[in-house]
Amino acid sequence: MRGRQPGRQRGRHVTGQTGPSGTSFDPLAGLRHPGEPEIDVMLHGMVFLDIIFSGLNRIPEGGEEIWADGMGSCPGGSANLAVASARLGLRTGLAAAFGDDAYGDFLWSTLQDQEGVDLGCSRRFEHWHTPVTVSVSHAGDRRMITHGHDAPMSANDLIGTPPRSRSVLFDLPPADAPDELQWIDAAREQGSLLFADVGFDGTGRWDQRVLEPLDRCHAFTPNAVEAMAYTRTDTAYDALYALADRVPLAVVTNGAHGALAIDGSTGEEAMVPALRVESIDPTGAGDVFCAALSLGTLAGWRLDDRLAFAALCSALAVQQFGGSLAAPGWGDIADWWHAQRQSPSPTALHKAVLRRYSFLDDLVPDVPPSAVRRAAATIARRSDATAALSKESA
Ligand SMILES: Nc1ncnc2c1ncn2[C@@H]1O[C@H](COP(=O)(O)OP(=O)(O)OP(=O)(O)O)[C@@H](O)[C@H]1O
Ligand SMILES: [Mg+2]
Repeated sequence: MRGRQPGRQRGRHVTGQTGPSGTSFDPLAGLRHPGEPEIDVMLHGMVFLDIIFSGLNRIPEGGEEIWADGMGSCPGGSANLAVASARLGLRTGLAAAFGDDAYGDFLWSTLQDQEGVDLGCSRRFEHWHTPVTVSVSHAGDRRMITHGHDAPMSANDLIGTPPRSRSVLFDLPPADAPDELQWIDAAREQGSLLFADVGFDGTGRWDQRVLEPLDRCHAFTPNAVEAMAYTRTDTAYDALYALADRVPLAVVTNGAHGALAIDGSTGEEAMVPALRVESIDPTGAGDVFCAALSLGTLAGWRLDDRLAFAALCSALAVQQFGGSLAAPGWGDIADWWHAQRQSPSPTALHKAVLRRYSFLDDLVPDVPPSAVRRAAATIARRSDATAALSKESA
């Protein structure tokens, strides 16, 4: 029988089910004209049920059960990017397979009804069950266990002719799977800007043929490790310049060091330091960064402002547990900006932040006070986070 510790976890059980609340703010309102695409960002990928345990004082030994002080459950995998994009007010379409089990019900309703993600290109599949990841967060590290099966249908078959969209965000496929790009090429022919990302190559091959599809992309957003490995360079800057030869908007993210970018289509070059925050879970930082960068690009912002905005959104995310749970909404961004403006700090660092983010003065006044914030469970989750950190540092 599983052990019980009644009462210990009371008030600490946190799920994503309560979700974000609030009025949406449309950062692209000025661009919406009849005949324009209904969807701003189109995505495809596997959606997981993510269950995240936090607040453990150690990892259990064999045969042992321990209790976690905090827990969150939320859509993960490609849903992280979909939620990040939707919370920023982008009209987001996600094409994914959903199981016909209870987890599939939860993921579908969370994404569609709560987060406002358009699932018009998604489908429920009988006898295909939801992929599940259990993630254990301890001492600044994550350990994950996943169970799932291959997607029941290819992206091209699932999507067919894609709906018109302003942009498509996708991961470059392996060099031997170029067929995966068919629907993306179709979207491009309909006018979508393509934003490509890439993942860590666990095989260590870093096959440069993976980069070939960049010839049709608008942007590429690898992290520094990926960028240097694929371009065979030794610094993030060298990697950036090599990538800028291949794609109009080249961006190299560099974790707590910030990000660098060149936009050949506007002739701008920029770098942004990361905000100095306490990172407790980096899951989804890259997704939140990309969603924010694509928003700024679609809205036509200066490159400096796009990078700063992406750095802010990802810095807000890494301070929370979970991927999609942590993605900020405009309410969170407005709260942060008000707090910065009100802070009496005389430091050069604070003044630099006020200067760097002064463009928010043009946006934040239009954000309704009730704008979307992270899941309503955020407060409890923050207390979980605090408890987890104090426990780990004890
Ligand atoms: N510890 C941190 N503090 C502040 N900002 C951070 C931190 N880690 C990441 N970020 C922000 O998130 C951005 C993306 O992070 P990173 O470079 O780690 O991407 P990534 O490796 O693609 O992430 P992911 O693992 O989600 O794919 C960074 O450029 C930075 O702005
Ligand atoms: Mg990444």
